[in-house]
Amino acid sequence: MTTDYSQLARDLLLDLLGRGLTQRRLSEGSGVSMTTITSILAGHTATARTYARLRAFSQESAVTPGRGGAGRWSSERRPRKSKGGPTKVGMMVRTLVMVKPDGVKRNLVGACLAAFEGEGLGIADLKLLTLSPERARELYRVHRNEPFFDSLVAYMSSGPVVAAVLEGPDAVRRAREVMGATDPAEAAPGTLRALYGESIQRNTVHGSDGEEAVEHEVGVIFGPR
Ligand code: CDP
Ligand code: MG
Repeated sequence: MTTDYSQLARDLLLDLLGRGLTQRRLSEGSGVSMTTITSILAGHTATARTYARLRAFSQESAVTPGRGGAGRWSSERRPRKSKGGPTKVGMMVRTLVMVKPDGVKRNLVGACLAAFEGEGLGIADLKLLTLSPERARELYRVHRNEPFFDSLVAYMSSGPVVAAVLEGPDAVRRAREVMGATDPAEAAPGTLRALYGESIQRNTVHGSDGEEAVEHEVGVIFGPR
């Protein structure tokens, strides 16, 4: 009987991703390319050598009691301790992201959500809605004195958006990493804004920039909880 390395590799990958490791981190740690990892997850074959590399990495990064304590993440990946508060769900941290009107119009909702999910961020809540100008103003109130405020509000209320609460370790920072810089022209290659952004304003996705923003924005979109 031959060993099905593809199945073993796929199970191992799913287990590692389930522990909060990103595909990028997995690739760097194991030496297996991102392309190979993606293809194994999509059901393609894995060689014995690839499986061995993933397994070695899995054993190295295992959470061992006494070396970082019990938990789902190795000490390196564990989210920073905080005083708690409503943004924490157990050890998970949440953030709010939105696919903006330009993204919804161009059928990019799936691609954007897939990018966040691909980084191990899970969807805890999801909503399609059209912001009234008043709600858009409230959402972006920190920018009320910026010269672009009125045009931002008009744009954000020009069509439906898809808002999601994402959960995962270090969710705020990681979601913003997936999105890229505000100006698509300056966003790192492969980020959502680099791939899809049309201009600094029509930059396809939004992501909260800190815990306070998460509280405010989740409240504006999903109501108090
Ligand atoms: O969205 P992000 O946190 O990266 O950037 P921001 O500085 O908080 O700006 C919020 C949003 O305002 C951006 O995502 C753009 O849609 C818009 N904006 C704009 O229209 N013109 C600018 N010069 C800067 C931002
Ligand atoms: Mg911002």
